[in-house]
Amino acid sequence: MKTTRADIEEILQQLTLDEKISLVSGRDAWSTKPIERLGVPSVWVADGPHGLRRAPETYLPGFGDQWPSTCFPTASALAASWNVDLLKTTGELLAKECLAYGVQVILGPGINIKRSPLGGRNFEYFSEDPVLAGELAAAYINGVQQHGVGTSLKHFACNSQEQNRMVVSSNVDERTLREIYLTNFEIAIDKSNPWTVMAAYNPVNGDDATANPFLLTDILQTEWQYDGVVLSDWVSVHLPVKAIKAGLHIEMPGNDGVHVDEIKLALETGALSETTLDDRVRDSLVFAFKAHEQADPTAHVDHEAHHQEAEAIAADCFVLLKNDHNALPLTPEKYNSVALIGEFAVKPRFQGNGSSEVKETKLTNLKDELAQQISVPMSYSSGYRLDDDHDTSLIAEAVKQAQQAEAAIVHVGLPQHYESEGYDRKHLHIPPAQVALIEAVSQVQANTIVVLTNGAPIDMPWHNNVPAILETWLPGQAGATAIAKTLTGVYNPSGKLPETFPVRLEDTPCFLDFPGLDRKLNFSEGVFVGYRWYDARKIEPLFPFGHGLSYTQFELSDLSISSQKVTQGDALTVQVKVTNSGILSGQEVVQLYVHDTDSRLPRPEKELKRFAKIQLAPGETKTLEFELNTRDLSYFDEQQGKWLAESGDFEIRIGNSSQHTPVIGKFTYESAEVLPLGFDVRTTLREWVANEETKPIAYDLVKDFFMTMPHEIVGDLWDFNIKNDFFMD
Ligand code: GLC
Repeated sequence: MKTTRADIEEILQQLTLDEKISLVSGRDAWSTKPIERLGVPSVWVADGPHGLRRAPETYLPGFGDQWPSTCFPTASALAASWNVDLLKTTGELLAKECLAYGVQVILGPGINIKRSPLGGRNFEYFSEDPVLAGELAAAYINGVQQHGVGTSLKHFACNSQEQNRMVVSSNVDERTLREIYLTNFEIAIDKSNPWTVMAAYNPVNGDDATANPFLLTDILQTEWQYDGVVLSDWVSVHLPVKAIKAGLHIEMPGNDGVHVDEIKLALETGALSETTLDDRVRDSLVFAFKAHEQADPTAHVDHEAHHQEAEAIAADCFVLLKNDHNALPLTPEKYNSVALIGEFAVKPRFQGNGSSEVKETKLTNLKDELAQQISVPMSYSSGYRLDDDHDTSLIAEAVKQAQQAEAAIVHVGLPQHYESEGYDRKHLHIPPAQVALIEAVSQVQANTIVVLTNGAPIDMPWHNNVPAILETWLPGQAGATAIAKTLTGVYNPSGKLPETFPVRLEDTPCFLDFPGLDRKLNFSEGVFVGYRWYDARKIEPLFPFGHGLSYTQFELSDLSISSQKVTQGDALTVQVKVTNSGILSGQEVVQLYVHDTDSRLPRPEKELKRFAKIQLAPGETKTLEFELNTRDLSYFDEQQGKWLAESGDFEIRIGNSSQHTPVIGKFTYESAEVLPLGFDVRTTLREWVANEETKPIAYDLVKDFFMTMPHEIVGDLWDFNIKNDFFMD
């Protein structure tokens, strides 16, 4: 039964001041405060994002004692699918598990932009690109919320590292903030309206994200008109009054009233108005009642069915990084025996560390699953120890088995303790013993296929020694089954990298500015994050953003653009044909980038604006259509305080990787912006001349000046073509 706004106002009027103040903090670890006498329910929130971590009670930690739930692939894997339908499906499955467990909000998705591949929670975030992150997040949120369960879009904002995350200020200029670190949130909020947004631990430009007027008032409330509830990240509110004023609704977890006196004093002194408090409480009341509108006490979960779904989801996320001479898939015709090597094949790594840790309902391993999928003899050796990075004593046995087989599958990656919430990595390496294993096996076995399990990019000094590399990320509880079926061709890999894999750490955008020092983290690379950096610096990555192979091949052709001349406010329709030119069914991810040929501000070479994943049978052709708008051509102009697209020539670049965009279309954009002069005493003559309105005035000023000056001073300057020479750059 829906609670009307009038009901909410009625309840608000009946609340005592103490009750109102109590509502700006949660009740305990996982629930908001109820007001029983007025029928205000509590809301049970639980992590997320890639599985439900439901504590036995709302006041218990839920670590170790959490109820078993389906562990889906983590965000970096899901993002590699580039499949919005898949994200929506994952959201729906999570919602069903929440309903069955009496949880009303799942604390996800995490969409912070990945500045550095070292980020400890990169496994839990989507991408280095805001459009990819925002679109996928919106799909996940819509999937969850269509079943009457809420989400928490996190962590708002610029929470892109773990070290000292509660004190290090993310210092970022407004253009970079808007174009890179807010656009993902903006897209997600605009396309899915998450019930809650979670404010981040870190300060942004010196202001705690939980008490940041620019983020919570100016952007979230005023500019984006967000009408949901802002939760704090857990134990992140240091300035409760400033937080409430800025726009925080509920401090989590419950703080046992530790801030009540401070809030009361602020109300008494007028530092905080009761109207503002009412505004926050009103939104929280709407949230509390909405959270129970679709509660279904009879809901239950078919965990086996969800496990099967988790397998198919994982398979859509794998990225075939390399596949020389079609080393994959494994077939009896190619290889009449296989050596499987790696401890991960019996002790799978399938999720990350920290608050997102799910207790899985079931777990498969590659050794058992691959044995079921192949019909030829398969040996197994552990190759390395997960509890000792340097023990190479197991390599000899692995090499022997690899020599005796016709192909070797080496399953390696990042051990659990290498990446986690709470700390960042210091390097990009996998354990040295694993590197030694790959090198030793590849020396004796030409068909050495590396299967990677890692939540974030790694370096691969050995990549030229092997013909095939399959990136499987942290693939969830059914990941091993999906890996076995992908290796044997039951699934055709279709993932693309959502994050650049660099050759070495020194090539990365924020190598000199990560993880920050003395509580300051300067985003000195500006908008040049991820592929934007490697493009600008012409640094060749190991594997580029958007890269991923298939067991079949695809061709793009027949680009058509609805107009060669686009004026401000017009939409631009782009069509392109995609053909499966191979002999197997498969999926392709078509990526559309925009290039601005000339702009006042330095802009990235190209920026992702649209993408689509499409299934094609062998020989099948389909046409994709995308629509672009002025915002897609714009940068954020700090001087003007607005998004601006400059008049001039643009390119549409379409391909299946950021470094393979063979289909290019051109058009001219005509801006209708009349920019305010914004002149002041420091305005230069060049700026006067650059503006059509003030150019004549400038010329007159210059002419009078030069005409009155003695010739021997100005020399024959007057004779030059003054309009160009005097004003030339
Ligand atoms: C954690 C995380 C956040 C999580 C919350 C509750 O510290 O930063 O993502 O949802 O606290 O566990």
